[in-house]
Amino acid sequence: MRLSRSAVPRALRRATAGVATLAAAGLIAATAPAALAAPSPTLAAPDIPLANVKAHLSQFQSIASANGGNRAHGRPGYKASIDYAKAKLDAAGFTTTVQQFTSSGATGYNLVADWPGGDPNQVLMAGAHLDSVSSGPGINDNGSGSAGVLETALAVSRAQLQPEKHLRFAWWGAEELGLVGSKYYVNNLPTAERSKVSGYLNFDMIGSPNPGYFVYDDDPAIEKTFKDFYAGLNVPTEIETEGDGRSDHASFKNVGIPVGGLFTGASRTKTSAQAQKWGGTAGQAFDRCYHSSCDTTANINDTALDRNSDAIAHAIWTLGTDTPVPPGDSYENTADVTIPDNGTAVTSTINVTGRTGNAPATLRADVDIRHTWRGDVVVDLLAPDGTAYRLKNSSGNDSADNVIATYTVNASSEPANGAWKLRVQDVASQDTGYINSWKLTF
Ligand code: TRP
Ligand code: ZN
Ligand code: CA
Repeated sequence: MRLSRSAVPRALRRATAGVATLAAAGLIAATAPAALAAPSPTLAAPDIPLANVKAHLSQFQSIASANGGNRAHGRPGYKASIDYAKAKLDAAGFTTTVQQFTSSGATGYNLVADWPGGDPNQVLMAGAHLDSVSSGPGINDNGSGSAGVLETALAVSRAQLQPEKHLRFAWWGAEELGLVGSKYYVNNLPTAERSKVSGYLNFDMIGSPNPGYFVYDDDPAIEKTFKDFYAGLNVPTEIETEGDGRSDHASFKNVGIPVGGLFTGASRTKTSAQAQKWGGTAGQAFDRCYHSSCDTTANINDTALDRNSDAIAHAIWTLGTDTPVPPGDSYENTADVTIPDNGTAVTSTINVTGRTGNAPATLRADVDIRHTWRGDVVVDLLAPDGTAYRLKNSSGNDSADNVIATYTVNASSEPANGAWKLRVQDVASQDTGYINSWKLTF
């Protein structure tokens, strides 16, 4: 069946977006690109082995099974979980600290693991709550985030990473009692230390069995880091809205620390539009075992856990080793340019002057195009002599919003000076947008 998209309303097109007849084949712009540039981070993060993450989950499951079926605050399964993670981190060369607090008459524990080195005035943190509710073993909530952060920390050690920032990983106690452990940590962090924390990344429920791909929208730079990762996988994301402030990032956000994170959904129901783009079952909760005894190792979607574990590593590598770009090397155009629906290409120009020689082999183009169906959009970078470098092809079934991405182009055969253009064409009808801004970094 061949569908003419112009005749199909947006809502219906969402429902049919997976159909192969909507593929990009006939929709690609006529001009042949000189090269297809891939979005690429400065320093590639390793692939986090799913098997390792799942091995941690098996251990958390065994700990719960041996301790009355849970890993809740004040119960022996919680302390056993702390001991398990601490031993792994100690063996990998982390400096670990167990912070004690009291809540509901029981002793609670936070585990903090510092990776030696990095700028002590720029601390990048990643954390997850390690406690379960008392009604179950808490494997998705939140063995998943705990295991993903743990395996990322171990990957930092395997790589013997020497990031610019100081890296600190944390596992919080008593989250289920009201973010108790993370609040305690933040409250006891002297003001001078708080201001050194450049970001806190939170991972609470990242392997839900009927998963969605939700990104916290608190800090734009952190949000972009996660969205770029998912854009690279061609997996659409949505903003996390299932109870904002319901996890440990709130403790940090409340004192002005930039936060971000990932989430695959709890008790909310997956809509048919979400099932269309992510797979899974519409009309069913993202996690039907949320806070239940069935939150076992069977309550995990491997693909979601795998992607989100890799996303944690991507964020740590990208944000931890982020070299600030000397301002003199960047050129930006922030003027909005409307992109006509299914129409002719439009351009936005950046005039580069005062440089010597050619552009680098790693010319960076940061593109910010706002659009209600990014699959419609074809993007090229035009060198001053008109040579086109394809940044992004159309893809009829990519229904996500916006093209907010960083591309690296080998432009070493192009003189740096001159009028560089971002050329954008919308090649399918109905959804529209505009160039918000773009930036070239030499
Ligand atoms: N923190 C909640 C719990 O542990 C789960 C949760 C609900 C959540 N909404 C969220 C986590 C939004 C992160 C973001 O039970
Ligand atoms: Zn919970
Ligand atoms: Ca369109």
